[in-house]
Amino acid sequence: MDGKTVLITGSTGGIGKETARGLATLGATTFLLGRDPTRAEAAARELRADTGNPRITALTADVSRPTDLRRLATELADRVERLDVLVNNAGTSRPRREVTADGVEAMFATNVLAPFMLGGELLPLLRGGGRIVNLTGGIPKGRIDPGNLLAERKFVGFTFSQYNHTKLAVMAMSLGFADRVAEHGVTVNVAYPGHASTPGNRDLPMSAFPVVYRPAAPLLRWFGPRLLGGDAVAKASRSSVYLASSPEVEGVTGAYFDKHCRRAKWPPSVLDQANQDTVWRLCERLRG
Ligand SMILES: NC(=O)c1ccc[n+]([C@@H]2O[C@H](COP(=O)([O-])OP(=O)(O)OC[C@H]3O[C@@H](n4cnc5c(N)ncnc54)[C@H](OP(=O)(O)O)[C@@H]3O)[C@@H](O)[C@H]2O)c1
Repeated sequence: MDGKTVLITGSTGGIGKETARGLATLGATTFLLGRDPTRAEAAARELRADTGNPRITALTADVSRPTDLRRLATELADRVERLDVLVNNAGTSRPRREVTADGVEAMFATNVLAPFMLGGELLPLLRGGGRIVNLTGGIPKGRIDPGNLLAERKFVGFTFSQYNHTKLAVMAMSLGFADRVAEHGVTVNVAYPGHASTPGNRDLPMSAFPVVYRPAAPLLRWFGPRLLGGDAVAKASRSSVYLASSPEVEGVTGAYFDKHCRRAKWPPSVLDQANQDTVWRLCERLRG
């Protein structure tokens, strides 16, 4: 990745930081992104020291806010002439319905709208060979419910249903995106990282029941990963690093890869053209 420039969202911790570590180790000029400048700077310092790559820079933006993403795209365009890889890694799982300051359901805003917007805003930098990697998660099965994409009808937190719903939606959005940007020489693929115990998911799904959960949290945090298994966080970054850097996937677009970096089948609901169109129209409306 020498001579290549990459941006990984949600890379101050969890799988994103390990993805950044992997790409920086391969020599990429690496931009990290988180919401908090202190955490972002600390992550950049840590990765510069660990990888010996001095070209690691911290940026900040809240990806759930379209105005922040527009500002970020302008800032990046001032710093670099091209971007070779955008990994839309930042994701969130909430136990109840919450909305952003823009009034958008928070998981849809972060998991679906942000990759849609950032891919669009950064397209001029990605043209001619750029790669976009979007992350899915949860259990990418089930079906897309076009009337409940913003949890406007019902919210099911405990079984991760609403989170899964947004991850199906980002898959559907990615397929449409891949078609639309093919003429610009940009590829779009989806990575499934596998399960790993990270700051973002270790308290879920039990945090839906705070009264029961709070007293038991320290024990569950210790036992949870041991009982449920799960991959080391670095291992969970493999599919993103692979899609971002491997020559094997040069020119491959509109594909979905599992945690072993193998091509996987798209869920039928994601392939449904009507669902893809509904998700796309919703993103266009929310982009403002
Ligand atoms: N962990 C798993 O088992 C698992 C399984 C399947 C899929 N995934 C997917 O893999 C991706 C990474 O998961 P993870 O578990 O590593 O997540 P995580 O632990 O929650 O990682 C959080 C990272 O995302 C950043 N972040 C969160 N919300 C943000 C926002 N609105 N704007 C900017 N940055 C934001 C955080 O930065 P700051 O807090 O510093 O702002 C931090 O760097 C997600 O898309 C997730 O859905 C994870």
